[in-house]
Amino acid sequence: MSTALIILAAGQGTRMMSDLPKVLHQIAGAPLFAHAMASGAALLPEKTILIAGHGADEVRQAALDIDEDVEVILQEEQLGTGHAVAQARAALAGFEGNAFVLYGDTPFIQPETLERMAEARQHHDVVVLGFEAADPGRYGRLVMQGDVLERIVEFKDASDQERAITLCNSGVICADASVLFDLVSQVGNDNAAGEFYLTDIVAIASQAGLSATAVSCDEAETLGINSRAELARGEAAFQARARAEALDTGVTLIAADTVYFSHDTLIGRDAIIEPNVVFGPGVTVETGARIRAFSHLEGCHVSTGAIVGPYARLRPGAELANNARVGNFVEIKNAQIGEGAKVGHLSYIGDATLGDACNIGAGTITCNYDGVFKHHTEIGESAFIGSNTMLVAPVSVGDHALTASGAVITSDVPAEALAISRAKQVNKPGLGRRLMDKLKAAKAAQKKV
Ligand code: UD1
Ligand code: MG
Repeated sequence: MSTALIILAAGQGTRMMSDLPKVLHQIAGAPLFAHAMASGAALLPEKTILIAGHGADEVRQAALDIDEDVEVILQEEQLGTGHAVAQARAALAGFEGNAFVLYGDTPFIQPETLERMAEARQHHDVVVLGFEAADPGRYGRLVMQGDVLERIVEFKDASDQERAITLCNSGVICADASVLFDLVSQVGNDNAAGEFYLTDIVAIASQAGLSATAVSCDEAETLGINSRAELARGEAAFQARARAEALDTGVTLIAADTVYFSHDTLIGRDAIIEPNVVFGPGVTVETGARIRAFSHLEGCHVSTGAIVGPYARLRPGAELANNARVGNFVEIKNAQIGEGAKVGHLSYIGDATLGDACNIGAGTITCNYDGVFKHHTEIGESAFIGSNTMLVAPVSVGDHALTASGAVITSDVPAEALAISRAKQVNKPGLGRRLMDKLKAAKAAQKKV
């Protein structure tokens, strides 16, 4: 059965107090709507439609950056959830299969929950995702008769008796696409809010002799983000789950509560993550690697047996081969670090390739940027770069070559050569002592005045 996702994301999000459209606020390094898309991805959707309104241009750009097949449709006026779904009609003309309606501001719906809805769809025309609310507040209420869902009543329109119902509407709905659009076209706006309620399709379906039911999920999955406080709670919930998953799959987290994951962080079994490590997007850490305390990683790959940090920064394009070492106060960007290579202390390695088993002395800098262009540095296998070497790119140092400490390397160093590039040292006998005495005398004279 084919699936289409319709993700509603047109709302303004006034309570975020933000210039940014609500669904572009991030949890775990990905915009809110991308989390909804990721939940739906488990259903292998043939089509994904995002309904945008406020900040539609920015939302469209962000959506296409993530998946260029997403269709973003503008809902010019936000006349209600039913009206929002109706905007997807033309984009889904000719589509045959299930349509799932998700909210772009509700990031935690689990893929298994959607799969359970798809199963329920085999026996019912309309399937709504409900949850038992600890505090039902202003949610829409599901009016059930056995396992038949008769209708959904919005809080504003509900009687006291209906408000006493604790089974609430999450907003996620699944129906055959053509049935969904047919039902939505019959929705009116004669209600307390004057909106076209998507929820009205349930009563319309019942009257037409179609069957509707509810599948329930844990309330935590339905957490919608409407304010910065909820965004912070959502981030905390994501992190708690990511930490638990890492521990369950055999990753050691020495102080789990201080490690921050991104939506796509992948860490292998028996990796050890020390306290206060932050994973930005796009990180993979292979089995048995160790990330030491206070390191920040994004867009990088750390292979088996490699050790990173403490206090290291791996930026996009950093690729560490097996058993590589990157030590304290080292920054690596767009660079391949060979097997067993060591960059131990206080270095910047950018736009570079480092051969296997090379050793980079403390304070080495790849001078990769001339103010306009970026240039590449190539360092051979088992090369030894002396402390405080400046490698002015483009430049290469051959296999088994050495650079003397303090060198400024502006031309290529052949394999096995030693490059020395610094002023010759001169010792002036006694001059150090005489200079110091003179300075002390000058200070004493100043104090007397
Ligand atoms: C909706 C449901 C309610 C449910 C609750 C769960 C309706 C009528 N009510 O109420 O039963 O308990 O969600 O959170 O559906 N949106 C658009 N265009 C619009 C209107 C809304 O894209 O014209 C989007 C919003 O950006 C949001 C989602 O749809 O992502 C839900 O809209 P919202 O206004 O929050 O609906 P609720 O009143 O919370
Ligand atoms: Mg809402």
